[in-house]
Amino acid sequence: MTTRTVTFFNYKGGSGKTLGSAALAAEFSLRGHRTLLVDGDKQGSATQCALAAADDAPFPAMVLNFSQFGDKLHRELARHLENYDYIIIDTPAAADSAITQSALLLADLAIIPVKTSPPDIWASRVAVLSIEEARRINRKLKAVVLANAVDRTTISRVVVEQLPSLGLPVLKSCLHNRVAYQEAIATGSHVSLGGRGARKAAAEMASLADEILNMLEEE
Ligand SMILES: Nc1ncnc2c1ncn2[C@@H]1O[C@H](COP(=O)(O)OP(=O)(O)OP(=O)(O)O)[C@@H](O)[C@H]1O
Ligand SMILES: [Mg+2]
Repeated sequence: MTTRTVTFFNYKGGSGKTLGSAALAAEFSLRGHRTLLVDGDKQGSATQCALAAADDAPFPAMVLNFSQFGDKLHRELARHLENYDYIIIDTPAAADSAITQSALLLADLAIIPVKTSPPDIWASRVAVLSIEEARRINRKLKAVVLANAVDRTTISRVVVEQLPSLGLPVLKSCLHNRVAYQEAIATGSHVSLGGRGARKAAAEMASLADEILNMLEEE
């Protein structure tokens, strides 16, 4: 099978890139797909997530830190392609990051997580411009918006309704604001391993993974 590469991407800090990429990589791995989570952020949050796992319950996906590789990311990742079905990249928030640009040039799919607050949707418009630029070179690049940390407030609902105005398809699946996600990240685990309290999170992650796998299979 051809390796598919997915990058989580948004210049807005705290939008859910690390949480989304780690949870998706864990979900894919637990389904039996050979999955690599690439930590492309010098903050090292995805690496910390793997380090936080218990010795007898390692983080479900392989995690490698490529954050120092900058625009050589594609060259280094090429050495791993045959070992994995899916490569998920967590990128930093910095707008001028070489690693983010490199990830957009090699990815099959970019997922832009957007927290459902007005400043988050405003800031995400810049990310959409970068997708348009990357597509001039990487013609296979698909891009979608993921509503993240959705809650029951009116402002969250209004921002969800506004997401299509970003000009990219919006995933049907979304991630609600749930402590279970934070607990999974903090313990190097995955919501599907988290028991009763994590059931809703596990169900929405499963739905997100199904939707993304379908997109990656479409040519
Ligand atoms: N769906 C969610 N439910 C609960 N908490 C969330 C959710 N999404 C993100 N968070 C929390 O919001 C914070 C920021 O998320 P995360 O670290 O994934 O963002 P990021 O885009 O990677 O940030 P940075 O730009 O700093 O790398 C974290 O504390 C994370 O646990
Ligand atoms: Mg991050």
